[in-house]
Amino acid sequence: MNRGRVADGESEGNRGWAPVGSAGSGNGYAGWRVDGAHRYFRGMTIDEDLARRCSLEGRTAIVTGGSRGIGKAIAGQLARAGAQVMITSRKAEACEEAAAEIGHGVTWRASNVGKPEEAAAVVDATLDTFGAVDILVNNAATNPYAGPTVAVDIPRWEKTLQINLTAPLVWSQLVWDRYMKDSEGGCSIINISSVGGLSTNAALGVYDVTKAALLHLTRQLAAELGPKVRVNAVAPGLIRTDFARLLWEGERGAEVAQMYPLKRLGEPDDIAGAVLFLAAETGSWITGQTIVLDGGGLVSFQKIG
Ligand SMILES: NC(=O)c1ccc[n+]([C@@H]2O[C@H](COP(=O)([O-])OP(=O)(O)OC[C@H]3O[C@@H](n4cnc5c(N)ncnc54)[C@H](OP(=O)(O)O)[C@@H]3O)[C@@H](O)[C@H]2O)c1
Repeated sequence: MNRGRVADGESEGNRGWAPVGSAGSGNGYAGWRVDGAHRYFRGMTIDEDLARRCSLEGRTAIVTGGSRGIGKAIAGQLARAGAQVMITSRKAEACEEAAAEIGHGVTWRASNVGKPEEAAAVVDATLDTFGAVDILVNNAATNPYAGPTVAVDIPRWEKTLQINLTAPLVWSQLVWDRYMKDSEGGCSIINISSVGGLSTNAALGVYDVTKAALLHLTRQLAAELGPKVRVNAVAPGLIRTDFARLLWEGERGAEVAQMYPLKRLGEPDDIAGAVLFLAAETGSWITGQTIVLDGGGLVSFQKIG
């Protein structure tokens, strides 16, 4: 029987409520009630409570590299959670298409993340349009070199560092200086690193060095920017995007998937869900941490890569 919404503190005895998991005996989990098919927590249905904890209603986010792949999935997830989202990448047309595809709540401005003046223009445009930047997702990255790290030429070493490490620092500085430091708090910076930042790889060492440094930048900024800003990272394994196409297209993808305990490659939405978890109230006591999302690759018995 549906008894409707129940206020906090109502006695379970006189309404026939039973705490979940304890079949009517004792208190179970304070505030949690079951009535037939309906579950309640602190006066809200469980759906309402979960929606509130995952909601980004009234929040504004910037997602770099938001025109495709993981960044586009993140932008879509944040928008569906209620955030207003600014996406940016180098190609205006790609940004425009992605914003139109995601729909409500998403706008765009083209920029190269490695150019500080273009980064500043995106942050200012976001502030002009929405009046806030509560969430920054540093997602854009590059990988211009494959081979032994000892043999890398300095221009490509510096390019990788510039886009994958310096740019996240510059964007973090901009949002901190121009909004977050004077905000009421609850802000969040999320850096998209890689499992490569936690291991070694014969061909991707240069990229991995930048992703490892990004993880430490995450910890350092978390220590510096609390309590107003939480700073966290996610470290994806192999995700089926353009960026990693060489690693998963054809039979190679199936071989890698077999090495993962979860027996499949990652999809952009696998990463987007974790970013929402970190940005929303669900992540409100997490800072300086890295969530590994790799189908179990790092704990696999077989060596990947
Ligand atoms: N895919 C994987 O297996 C994997 C695994 C671990 C970590 N990651 C990380 O996940 C993040 C996203 O990768 P992805 O796989 O989604 O890549 P992707 O599909 O190639 O998308 C990259 C996005 O970044 C933009 N971008 C690239 N360089 C840029 C620059 N200099 N300035 C501004 N925007 C730029 C691209 O748009 P434009 O071309 O228009 O600029 C695009 O929107 C990266 O940080 C990557 O290191 C990916």
